[in-house]
Amino acid sequence: MSISPRPPVISVPSVAGGFRPRRLRRTPALRRLVAQTRLSVDDLVAPLFVADGLDEPRPISSLPGVVQHTVPSLVAEVRRLAGLGVPGVIVFPLPRSEDKDATGSAAWAPGGITARAIGEVRDAVGDDIVVMADCCLDEFTDHGHCGPIDAATGDVDNDAAVELYARLAVAQADAGAAVIAPSGMMDGQVAAMRSALDGSGHQETAVLAYAAKYASALYGPFREAADVTIVGGGDRKGYQQDPRNRREALVEVALDVAEGADMVMVKPALTYLDVVADVRAMVDVPVAAYHVSGEYAMVMAAAERGWIDGPAVALEQVTAIRRAGADIVLTYFAGALAEVLHG
Ligand code: PBG
Repeated sequence: MSISPRPPVISVPSVAGGFRPRRLRRTPALRRLVAQTRLSVDDLVAPLFVADGLDEPRPISSLPGVVQHTVPSLVAEVRRLAGLGVPGVIVFPLPRSEDKDATGSAAWAPGGITARAIGEVRDAVGDDIVVMADCCLDEFTDHGHCGPIDAATGDVDNDAAVELYARLAVAQADAGAAVIAPSGMMDGQVAAMRSALDGSGHQETAVLAYAAKYASALYGPFREAADVTIVGGGDRKGYQQDPRNRREALVEVALDVAEGADMVMVKPALTYLDVVADVRAMVDVPVAAYHVSGEYAMVMAAAERGWIDGPAVALEQVTAIRRAGADIVLTYFAGALAEVLHG
C-alpha cells in the first residue's frame, strides 16, 4: 500500500484572529452596509457661469457640458438642480469684455450682471437651494488679476483688493446671495467682509472662505470659461499657495476661521487630498473642497477618447474627496451625479 504524501499543511497565520476582510465584500448589500464613506446629493454644490450680454447659452470648449449661461438659462438651470435635490450652487457672474477695468468695478455696479443674475435666481428659488456667490475680481479686471495692481510693485495691492472685496460682498448679499465665497487669497479678506456684511444688515449671510487655495495649473479651463487672461502671461503665485506647501494650508485655514469664516475650502481637491484630510482634522466648521475645472476636463477628455469610463471615474473621484474628509464638494459633475445618486 502506497502512502500518499500528506498534503502540505499551509499554516495561515491567523490574520487578526481569522478575520478575513474579503468576507465583507461579497455582495453589493454587504458592501453597502459596511461602506465608510457615503456620497449623497446633499454633499454637492454646482458651479455655474452667467455672462452679461449673451443672447443664448455659450458652450465652453474645454468644459464639455458646462456653459456660460444667460440670466434666464441660469435661472432654469438652478431650478433644475434644485429639483434634483442639489442643495447649493455657486454663481460666477461675468461682465462684457468692454466693461472690464483696472479695479473690476463692473462687479458691484448697480443693475450689473452680479445684481441681476443673483437677484433673479434668488427670486426664483428663494431658500430652496443655497445661492452662493464667488467673491473675486479677476473676471472683472482688464489685467486678469484678483485685485488692483500696485503701480509701485507691480503686484496685487492686498489691502486695496480687500476693500473692494468687502464692497462686492455687500453687493452680492444685497442681490440675495446667502453665502459669500471669497476666492482671492488676500490676507485679511474674511475679516473685512464679515465686518462689512455685519455693518450692512447682512449678519445672517455666511462666508465660505476659499482658505487653502493653491496656485494651480488645473484652473486652465476655468480661465476660458470666465474669459480671464492674466496680462503678460502672468500667474497668481504671489497670492495663491505654493503647491509644495502642506502645513501652510493650516495657517491659512486657522486665520480664516479666526476671522469669522463659517466654512472653509481647499482647492483644488484631488491633487490636495492630504490637505483636505489635515484641514478636516484641525477644524470643526464644515470643510468644502473644489473639484476644479482641470480635474473635470481631464475626466471628460479621457472619457471622450474611450480611455476611461467617465461616469465611473467621476463618482470615484468625488467619493475620494469625501473620503479624505470634505463635507461639501463643489463639482461640475454635480448635476450628473445628482441624477445617478437619485437613480
Ligand atoms: C477666482 C477663481 C478661480 C477659480 C474659482 N475662483 C480661478 C483662479 O483662481 O485663477 C477656479 C475654478 C476652477 O478651475 O474650476 N475667481
